[in-house]
Amino acid sequence: MHIGADYYPEHWPQERWATDARMMREAGFNTTRLAEFAWVNLEPEEGRFEFGWLDEALAVLAKEGIRALLCTPTAVMPAWLARKYPEALALGKDGQRLTWGVRKDSCYTSGALRLASERITRAMAEHFKDTPNVIGWQTDNEFGGPVCYCDSCRAEFQDWLRRKYGALDELNRAWGTHFWGQRYGTWGEIDIPMDPAGHNPSACLDWQRFHSWLNVRFQRDQVRILRQVCPQHFITHNFMGLFHELDYYDLAEDLDFVSWDNYPTLRTGQPQPRTRAASAADLMRGLKKRNFWIMEQTAGPGGWGVYSRNTRPGELRSIAYQQVARGADGMIWFRWRTCTAGREQYWHGLLGHDGRGLRRYQEAAQTAGELQALAPLLEGTTVKAPVAIIYDYDSIWAIRIQPGYAGNAYHADMARYYEALFRAGVNVDFVKPTDDLAPYKTVLAPDLYILPDEVAQALDVYVKGGGVLLADSRTGVKDATGLCHPRTLPGLLSDALGVAIEEYESLGEPGEPAGFSYAVRGEGDLAGPFTAIRTAEWAAPTTAQALAGYADWHMRPYAALTRNAYGRGVGYYLGTVVQEERFYDLLIARLLADAGVAPVVVPPAGVEVSLREGSGRRLLFLINHTEAEQAVDVPAGKLELLTNAATTGVLALGPHGVAVLQL
Ligand code: GLA
Ligand code: ZN
Repeated sequence: MHIGADYYPEHWPQERWATDARMMREAGFNTTRLAEFAWVNLEPEEGRFEFGWLDEALAVLAKEGIRALLCTPTAVMPAWLARKYPEALALGKDGQRLTWGVRKDSCYTSGALRLASERITRAMAEHFKDTPNVIGWQTDNEFGGPVCYCDSCRAEFQDWLRRKYGALDELNRAWGTHFWGQRYGTWGEIDIPMDPAGHNPSACLDWQRFHSWLNVRFQRDQVRILRQVCPQHFITHNFMGLFHELDYYDLAEDLDFVSWDNYPTLRTGQPQPRTRAASAADLMRGLKKRNFWIMEQTAGPGGWGVYSRNTRPGELRSIAYQQVARGADGMIWFRWRTCTAGREQYWHGLLGHDGRGLRRYQEAAQTAGELQALAPLLEGTTVKAPVAIIYDYDSIWAIRIQPGYAGNAYHADMARYYEALFRAGVNVDFVKPTDDLAPYKTVLAPDLYILPDEVAQALDVYVKGGGVLLADSRTGVKDATGLCHPRTLPGLLSDALGVAIEEYESLGEPGEPAGFSYAVRGEGDLAGPFTAIRTAEWAAPTTAQALAGYADWHMRPYAALTRNAYGRGVGYYLGTVVQEERFYDLLIARLLADAGVAPVVVPPAGVEVSLREGSGRRLLFLINHTEAEQAVDVPAGKLELLTNAATTGVLALGPHGVAVLQL
């Protein structure tokens, strides 16, 4: 297993390097990441390279048995580059160039920047291809960049559209330019749709896709060189979990595996189940359908101006285990030592400014030792989830461009289902709309706003063939180019779901200006009281059975939640957002029952369960995210791998405690 810390030798006197390398080895580390942001250190003047310092750093690390991956250092262009080629800096909406010095400020259509990026990539690849402890590459850093509005980007956007649509008539049709007299007579007339709240939604969607593609292309230019010069090295990139400015499926395509940067304590005031980090891990695993690395793992309080809370004793370890439980095969903490200079002085590493190996270092060392001991068993295992959630960048973008109901947001909607599955102790995969759904017993399609006919047909086939599908409000509103389908919704899913959406409205949330709610009432455990917020579709069941409806007089003919037996499967439809968490627990329980999915262990609140399996082994991870001791009912007579003790049937987990059972 690859374990270590992100290291910036250029931040420290060379006399210290040997101490750092020794302390890494003593912590059980074997891997580090170098040269991120070090472009100017490697190419201090255009075309003049200085690799000596990095050779020496690599040699010092090699002496302690530490391997390294190197970064293409392009996330910060050198000052000389910005000065000489000002067009390499992105142009903001206000027509101003970004001021150099905050990193990630590039225009990806700048020829000067693209050439310079290829030059430093090739020079590094040639120089380090045979360095024995260099094992792979990270491209750039956290692609996402600024959106650039310069003339060159506009011209490339026009070219991209020409390649996509071929004929201008096709674009005019796809964007619906008959509205507001928007028809284009030449490609050159097409402008950047800068105002996502005012411009044509179809144009905005293509602009977002183009922005994503520019980043993918910038990476691809580097990958091509690395593959050619260093075929023996792996190539990865450090993704940002649920960040969604780029189509991460596309960005992952050229890589050997995905890595990601995990900072869960930035968002949470107090320890709590890190469902966001869990879902991000599941998505990262889903991008290439294979295990991933953590390239930057929480090592302490983070923040650029104000630092976040610190990890409690045991929490740094449990943060790491959560990711291993969900498919991490590499664990690199960010960063080794807290830097004494620059904007990230308060982004804490395992070591403080003083360079001493205290509590956080020791906890990472303990974790590293345990993970190395587990490594032979983890080998060949991954998460094989019975449930899939469709994660679709087109829909996420289209909702942001035009949410429909007030407060519509993909991630909040998805999280309601995800968290209920997390509480139920069931693993989830994230999949593209076009992925094969056959391996899944149940598929959830939250906010599938953009629904091309082929996807709808595949979902129909899935249900007919025995799958359990859940879809919800505003499913299938638009086609792939962002035009509304001229059909009664849910369109091609009408048979599978057995409802007809006659009308719909925004509710907001009680307490918000103009916000109100409806009471939701169902039979049995769905009796509630539950509250419909945000949106209500006036959905008439056709063949579906209404499981819950609305109590308000004018809404009584309509269903809030329906279940439709269709072919050998079942289609659920939820035409609203329900405020109460418990509603989602009940809904997920029904879905799992229909799908015949039963978790191995039903965890108490605050405890996470995740199963890795493969190579004839099943490893069940249990993680206590609370600061209280938790008792978990587990199968008896199984080996707990961290203590080497057999389970008795009830397992005690201390605060932030972790256990790994071999089933
Ligand atoms: C990101 C970057 C790192 C560092 C941290 C902290 O994840 O990849 O280089 O800047 O954030 O800000
Ligand atoms: Zn530009």
